[in-house]
Amino acid sequence: MASSSGMSRWANRVALVTGASVGIGAGICASLVEHGMTVVGCARNKDAIQKISDDLRDKGLTGKLIPYKCDVSDETEVNNLFAYIEANHGGVDVCVNNAGFSTHQTLLEINATEMRAMLDVNVVGLVLCAQKSVNSMLARGVHDGHIININSMAGHRISGFLNFYTATKFAVTALNEGLRKEVVAKSRIRVTAISPGAVDTHFAHRIVGEEMAKQMYKTIDTLSVQDIVDALIFALSAPENSQVHDIQIRPTGQKE
Ligand SMILES: NC(=O)c1ccc[n+]([C@@H]2O[C@H](COP(=O)([O-])OP(=O)(O)OC[C@H]3O[C@@H](n4cnc5c(N)ncnc54)[C@H](OP(=O)(O)O)[C@@H]3O)[C@@H](O)[C@H]2O)c1
Repeated sequence: MASSSGMSRWANRVALVTGASVGIGAGICASLVEHGMTVVGCARNKDAIQKISDDLRDKGLTGKLIPYKCDVSDETEVNNLFAYIEANHGGVDVCVNNAGFSTHQTLLEINATEMRAMLDVNVVGLVLCAQKSVNSMLARGVHDGHIININSMAGHRISGFLNFYTATKFAVTALNEGLRKEVVAKSRIRVTAISPGAVDTHFAHRIVGEEMAKQMYKTIDTLSVQDIVDALIFALSAPENSQVHDIQIRPTGQKE
């Protein structure tokens, strides 16, 4: 892995992290703040981000986490988020598209409302944030910006579980490469996906409930949030000539 010293160029720059209230997003926010970045963390649960921000502030770091309430499936809220960042912090230099979720329904059960809700967060929200970040970077002459899409191993193979979610993550695989092709024609902004296997977060809690998720996590190998943070820091700290395209990480022992 690249040394984290490659992160020094990001000190005092601005990152947006979606889905910042718990799990992978919360861990990414903390790490970027520790590397001196000004991080705008958004999610629906702003209070949870405020708590993380307060804990980080107590450590006396130069970076800071700014909580922002935003549902990324709502275009108006996303527009307001970017207007806020432009007005108060100049603009996004690093965009981490992390917000995402699944429901438990099979393809034989899921209804159109549930499908659209998942598409709106996992796909539409991701594209809106990437698009607005890249356009802001180009308008400000920021050619070293970075878009990082938190994909999943579900975006690369069909396990037979969470099949609609899998389809949204296959879309992320396509969008990651499509965005790279569009962006490389205009600038040296980098586009990276990180594709984890099972990570012990609230992700499964939201699908099967807390108790069942805790039981499940005891019986399978999992990655930690720190494993995903390490991958993101590797991509962000890569030298200027190196674009990390997609980091696929399974827990050792995960068969699918
Ligand atoms: N955990 C895994 O096993 C795993 C594996 C591969 C990929 N991933 C991917 O990793 C990413 C993060 O998941 P996680 O494991 O950290 O899950 P998590 O603990 O459930 O966290 C999900 C985050 O997304 C946010 N979010 C959900 N809907 C949102 C919306 N409409 N607008 C804004 N934020 C929203 C949640 O915040 P609020 O509820 O406060 O809005 C929360 O902060 C997701 O894209 C997921 O698909 C997870």
